[in-house]
Amino acid sequence: MTLVSAAIDYSPSADPLSAEAIQSALPGSLKARFHCLQVHSEIPSTQLHALAATPGSGTCAVFLAERQTQGQGRQGRRWVSPAGCNLYLSVARRFDLPPAQLAGLSLVAGIAIAEALHAAGAGNVKLKWPNDVMVDGRKLGGILIQLRPLSSDASLVAIGIGINVRMPVEAAAQIDQPWCDLAAVLAAPPSRNVIAASVLSHLLPACEAFEAGGMAVFQGRWDALDALLGQRVRILDGAREVQGVAAGVTETGALRVRDGEREQVFHGGEVSVRAS
Ligand code: BTN
Repeated sequence: MTLVSAAIDYSPSADPLSAEAIQSALPGSLKARFHCLQVHSEIPSTQLHALAATPGSGTCAVFLAERQTQGQGRQGRRWVSPAGCNLYLSVARRFDLPPAQLAGLSLVAGIAIAEALHAAGAGNVKLKWPNDVMVDGRKLGGILIQLRPLSSDASLVAIGIGINVRMPVEAAAQIDQPWCDLAAVLAAPPSRNVIAASVLSHLLPACEAFEAGGMAVFQGRWDALDALLGQRVRILDGAREVQGVAAGVTETGALRVRDGEREQVFHGGEVSVRAS
């Protein structure tokens, strides 16, 4: 594996990111699965590096940044990415599946992140379909999945993960939704290197299990983390609005919504969900 850490730590953080520290916090069994692990001081977006990566079969390329100048969120939104305080991480991995079968991957990434944060002591972390990482109705992190097709049944997938660890007040003013950070959830959040290693330790095996068995093998774990399960929700699907009770996900990761006897299914990217 190639390890690269930014030579200049320009960030004021007392907790600088370090490729060596992340690697040493990883379980030995995973170390051979990394094509590279790079930490950058400032780049437009870790997603751009991940989408350009060429990890070999069975390995992944990992990119972190202290700061992103063009952090990307879902649906064309911006991801507020101030320096030296949060986690901005992208994992590039080849999946030998047709694009249609990758739909559940963003839910699986959410499960891996939530389980990693539970292991760090943040047991109140939940997931809001399709892939918002939440604590008490406030967004702690987000996931952005982007694909680069390699053939009709294989893609390079960039799994982008943002976790608010210690959001500075001045940056928080730019966030347009209820949010929180790990500093508000845990008395003493672990170092960002330890959080990154834990997320990778949960994510890599989850990716393998997903490639072998799809979302179906994760349904029980999703149910245990589902912030919406049994809640009244309002689905905005273009001009259409549907109300009902969230009833978990299908085998492919679509959201099930019940209204009396009627059940409707919503796929990622089509809708936004608000507790009603
Ligand atoms: C969302 O809108 O909820 C998804 C946010 C994803 C943010 C992460 S931070 C690391 C990676 N690089 C980016 O530019 N975006 C993702």
